[in-house]
Amino acid sequence: MDKDYQELKEWLEQTKDAPLEAMAGFFEARIDSYEEHMARWQAHYEWMADLLPESVESLLDIGCGTGLELDRILNRFPDLKVVGVDLSQGMLDKLRAKHNDKNLSLVCEDYFKYDMGKERFDAVISFETLHHFTFEKKAELFKKVFDCLKPGGVYLECDYIATSQAIEDLAFSECRRRRLRDGIRDDIFVHFDTPLTLEHELEAIKSAGFSAVELVGFLPGDDHTAMIRAVK
Ligand SMILES: C[S@@+](CC[C@H](N)C(=O)[O-])C[C@H]1O[C@@H](n2cnc3c(N)ncnc32)[C@H](O)[C@@H]1O
Repeated sequence: MDKDYQELKEWLEQTKDAPLEAMAGFFEARIDSYEEHMARWQAHYEWMADLLPESVESLLDIGCGTGLELDRILNRFPDLKVVGVDLSQGMLDKLRAKHNDKNLSLVCEDYFKYDMGKERFDAVISFETLHHFTFEKKAELFKKVFDCLKPGGVYLECDYIATSQAIEDLAFSECRRRRLRDGIRDDIFVHFDTPLTLEHELEAIKSAGFSAVELVGFLPGDDHTAMIRAVK
């Protein structure tokens, strides 16, 4: 049996009785230790900042949290006009405190509901926020991302990818089991990882109409975190 699958099965067994946590509450409860926990992606944050085109002036960050990716991006583009959307006000407050002198507009809202507008941004980014949603939900979101980008605009996504179909299936079926057990409806966001395979993730992005969608790659030693680029 595949090692990743085996590890996931063991972890699900160990945590099988743990109650599901609501998405915003999950992050609010961990604000103090959050940046330390995410430090493992330092090289990915740098990489995302490097991948943005030199000409970028406006950017939307969906699920920005405390903005670890923005720390690197604002270092490279200090005058960038940024809109950050996140469910957790506590995370946004922390982001604001770090970058009070920057051109940041922070919105505490569900990005599926947030009105992204039309042809408003040069770039949209998402970092480790989308691995909790179904293909259909993501396809709906990517259409909004596409619409809000200017022609030639870029979408960069760095996220957790299921390394096999069996992993994708197992995670979704366990999430369903826990939702039923805890009486949580499908439209309530919970913090439980349900990554899509790379093939499905790319397919969901392509369905929005981008002219090019590609896997930029993985960093050495991490084949679970994919960097994806799409161009309008
Ligand atoms: C793992 S954190 C990543 C934050 C940031 N991108 C980073 O890498 O430091 C995921 C973030 O996505 C946010 N999030 C999850 N689902 C969301 C939704 N539907 N709308 C807005 N924010 C959401 C969470 O509140 C959390 O702050």
